[in-house]
Amino acid sequence: MGAVSLIDVSKRFTLRIDGREQIVQALDRISFTVDEGEIVALIGPSGCGKTTALRITMGLDQATGGRVVVDGRAVRGCGHDRGMVFQHAELLPWLTALENVEFGLEMKGLRGAELRRRATAALALVGLEESVARRPYQLSGGMQQRVGIARALAIDPGVLLMDEPFGALDAQTREGLQDELLGLHARTRKTILFVTHDLDEAVVLADRVVVMRAGRVQEIVAVPLPRPRGDLAAMRGTPAFAETRYRIWRGIHAMPATAQ
Ligand SMILES: Nc1ncnc2c1ncn2[C@@H]1O[C@H](COP(=O)(O)OP(=O)(O)O)[C@@H](O)[C@H]1O
Ligand SMILES: [Mg+2]
Repeated sequence: MGAVSLIDVSKRFTLRIDGREQIVQALDRISFTVDEGEIVALIGPSGCGKTTALRITMGLDQATGGRVVVDGRAVRGCGHDRGMVFQHAELLPWLTALENVEFGLEMKGLRGAELRRRATAALALVGLEESVARRPYQLSGGMQQRVGIARALAIDPGVLLMDEPFGALDAQTREGLQDELLGLHARTRKTILFVTHDLDEAVVLADRVVVMRAGRVQEIVAVPLPRPRGDLAAMRGTPAFAETRYRIWRGIHAMPATAQ
């Protein structure tokens, strides 16, 4: 479960500024696929439409053209076949880690022992079994992001959509979480669409990297690194890593700088 296709997806925002209409073409006929169990990274400069593409795939926003198909069905609104992880976990501060994860499951209609079991299992998947009773302020930034991932995992979606989930973290924590995400992917075989603006992160995680520029897909680069990726520190030093990173870098820098 979990094949995703974006087919000619466009998104136009109409803004009204000082009584005048302004059109923003956030996405201009983008197409790419994420195969079942694949990790695809979406990379590009700020403002190029990454979040918009993810939100449309999640069903939080509607495309103005084209369509998104998940497991053969056109996306119309949110569904439990997809889960989203945001840049900031935005946990409810008065709830514990466990209760934050349970909250999402309650929305799905789960109650009682099954609710607790599912939330506990999701937190265990991200290595937080010791911290279930902590409130957000008692968790580090990295741990809060892991609660955000557990919240998405708890509903057991085939597809995980992740919008720069490690972007606000320090480099060391980020690398630790990249490693954990790869482990999680190996165990669960989720389909993952991962937005980042970090070249290294894209190469470390992805099977393919979709390079975006100004609302368009510029290039799709395959990452010829084996899975499991193994020792990430050692992998970063390999010629294949450097070559792939350089190909993506060239794809990004062939672009003139955007106004944003
Ligand atoms: N709700 C919105 N209303 C108007 N314009 C928006 C809205 N959301 C995004 N945009 C615009 O769409 C473009 C793409 O934004 P976004 O998808 O957030 O880019 P990224 O995630 O790559 O930084 C930007 O020009 C942004 O200003
Ligand atoms: Mg964004």
